[in-house]
Amino acid sequence: MFDLTLTQRSLLAAGFVVAVGLVAFPAEDPAVTRGRELFDRTFTKAEGLGTPEMNADTCRGCHSDPVLGGAGALELNVTRFGFDNMGVGPFQELPGGQGLSKLRPPHYAWREEAAATADCFEQRQTPSLLGDGLVDAIPESAIVANEDPNDLNADGVRGVARRLTINGITEIGRFGWKAQIPRLADFVRDAMFGELGITTPDDGRGFAPTTDGDTVADPELGATATADVHAFMASLPAPVRAGSTDPLVALGQQIFGEVGCTKCHVPALQGASGPVPLYSNLLLHNVMPAGYRGMAEPGAGVGFFRTPPLWGISHTAPYMHDGRAETLLAAIQAHDGEAAGVRAAFQARPEADRDALLRFLGDL
Ligand code: HEC
Ligand code: HEC
Repeated sequence: MFDLTLTQRSLLAAGFVVAVGLVAFPAEDPAVTRGRELFDRTFTKAEGLGTPEMNADTCRGCHSDPVLGGAGALELNVTRFGFDNMGVGPFQELPGGQGLSKLRPPHYAWREEAAATADCFEQRQTPSLLGDGLVDAIPESAIVANEDPNDLNADGVRGVARRLTINGITEIGRFGWKAQIPRLADFVRDAMFGELGITTPDDGRGFAPTTDGDTVADPELGATATADVHAFMASLPAPVRAGSTDPLVALGQQIFGEVGCTKCHVPALQGASGPVPLYSNLLLHNVMPAGYRGMAEPGAGVGFFRTPPLWGISHTAPYMHDGRAETLLAAIQAHDGEAAGVRAAFQARPEADRDALLRFLGDL
């Protein structure tokens, strides 16, 4: 095998053509090429950008670490808000929804009123999209198979799938920090509208308004272009494991299982064509400390987040939904709630074991 540098591997992972010796790479699907250009493009107001609100003028602005389509730094976090009566609850969504846009703050009187009423905020970090096409193709049955809502095995870890009703049919959510979106194609429309203020064609599934009241004709992004952005995202290969042969990495992998990380960060789920090594069960768990205040949605209460995939994790710091953990060790220490027992088991291990586990995570 060729000894590729990390950058070369990442570029390969992102679908860039890299000349390595005499290896020929297959020609790329033109839809993927067009979709990458759209993902990388800075949109203009004349194209419909930013009405009514927006967080950025390009997808690349947030998803670029370590490659286009990757994760984003802390300062790119987006904010959600709501009202929970100073922590007494129940959580209530304010008029206009949870999203507090960055570049154009709420500018309607009723949004300003909502913002003034808000007493509860939650930051959201930009996740990496690498491998999301494989995640999209995991059958729902493989996700629900790991559910344990009543904790029948009495290990303190439950895990429930996010259920959404779309046109009267229940679907399993798998994308976003609260698994709020079922399909990758749905996220194109959600992100185009929510992040850039750009409308997309009505596909009858919701997830984004189809008109936005500016002077640019809707849909602002046509059907082909919308499909192209999806094609690009679906083409992003999973992060490539470093593949270190250091015995400490193998030991760390064993300890990862022994202390119970794999109860939630399941090494692989069965995908459309073989196992998908994402290190997640895609289920919701509450790993927040008692008294945590944050957003609730139907089917995903306060403090419940989807187990994030850990593939490529060493390249996507900071960690957790709000980016509050700067290092992998801090991320582990930030687990509480359903993961309190597993965290304690990790902490009870000798330092050499804990270091080995971190080396394993660094290899993913
Ligand atoms: C301002 C920063 C920002 C911009 C710009 C942005 N995103 Fe995101 N993206 C995020 C954040 C934050 C999340 C997590 C949202 C959540 O779950 O609350 C996310 C999540 C996603 C996900 C789900 C990933 C997963 O595996 O769960 C997809 C897909 C996505 N974005 C696509 C896009 C596309 C397409 C664009 C351009 C139209 C875009 N994003 C622009 C910040 C951004
Ligand atoms: C009960 C289920 C559960 C267990 C057990 C668990 N995790 Fe997690 N893990 C989660 C959830 C849920 C999050 C996301 C929390 C958040 O965003 O605030 C998370 C987040 C993480 C992150 C940050 C990921 C990112 O993209 O920011 C890392 C790293 C991590 N876990 C590693 C571990 C390790 C190592 C163990 C074992 C010591 C472990 N986890 C045990 C559910 C679990």
